[in-house]
Amino acid sequence: MTPVIAPFPANRPRRLRRTAALRDLAQENRLSVKDLIWPLFVTDVPGADAPVASMPGVSRLTVDGVVKAAEEAAQLGIPAVCLFPYTDPALKTETCEEAWNPDNLSNRAVRAIKAAVPEIAVMTDVALDPYNALGHDGIVRDGVIVNDETVEALVKMALAQAEAGADILGPSDMMDGRIGAMRSALEAGGHKDVAILSYAAKYASAFYGPFRDAVGASGALKGDKKTYQMNPGNADEAIRLVARDLAEGADMVMVKPGMPYLDICAAVKARFAVPTFAYQVSGEYAMLKGAILQGWVKEDVMLESLLAFRRAGCDGILTYFAPDVARLLS
Ligand code: PBG
Repeated sequence: MTPVIAPFPANRPRRLRRTAALRDLAQENRLSVKDLIWPLFVTDVPGADAPVASMPGVSRLTVDGVVKAAEEAAQLGIPAVCLFPYTDPALKTETCEEAWNPDNLSNRAVRAIKAAVPEIAVMTDVALDPYNALGHDGIVRDGVIVNDETVEALVKMALAQAEAGADILGPSDMMDGRIGAMRSALEAGGHKDVAILSYAAKYASAFYGPFRDAVGASGALKGDKKTYQMNPGNADEAIRLVARDLAEGADMVMVKPGMPYLDICAAVKARFAVPTFAYQVSGEYAMLKGAILQGWVKEDVMLESLLAFRRAGCDGILTYFAPDVARLLS
């Protein structure tokens, strides 16, 4: 569609920027608290429920702490929280069986939140890294992250999370074939209404650094995740991966990280017209929050950075700023 634009002076675009009321009327995209998913770090390791140094303002919480955070989310109008466990290092193995323990930390936290604040949607992370002694999202054999064996493990993990009451499963592992395998297992296991928000286009990114500190995976991880996460140089591949995950039964898709990949967000939304999410990841949060705390940029960058995702077509955003933004918007 080609817009019709009168020549100057008939057309003076500044007319619609003259007052706040006119700017509001002419505004195309808006950010609402209802667009936000708040990621939370949970731990039961004594002393680990503490601030995350590389994410100022973010702390790991006990199970009671995440329940309180979920209550706060409900009060603020945030529709969903997403849980990431900081697992006791003694429970990490190379076979990762803690990942599908029905009583693991994440599953206990899901049950506690659903019991206390049933109206909040709880999203969980499906990937082996919090439970893997080797820090990878998949099972490692002879230095190789093996795909199909990992998918079998992820399916068990997904079923345990669904059993615990998770509303949304977030497979963040980037193995091939995991969405289809999970979807059929959920159908067969009586969990037909559990939604899958696939991390469909997840890039191998240095912006995840602070997150790995938060979940205690930084020390364990040897090497990088480039054999399963995407090459930052690729855009067509993101389209193919989103198409594949939708065909396998994903209900929603995610692009991750967010701000450096807004082109991918826009392309995915335009092409598939499905619920599209972006993850404003830990490194993006750290950069913005760090600069705000230094006084180098104003706090307004928070809203501006999130509005960008709406403009790019995202329906929602996972962001550590969720409670701050909710307060600003109210
Ligand atoms: C791992 C996982 C990661 C994030 C979410 N799930 C890190 C990684 O892939 O190494 C990153 C989130 C963030 O940086 O905020 N399954």
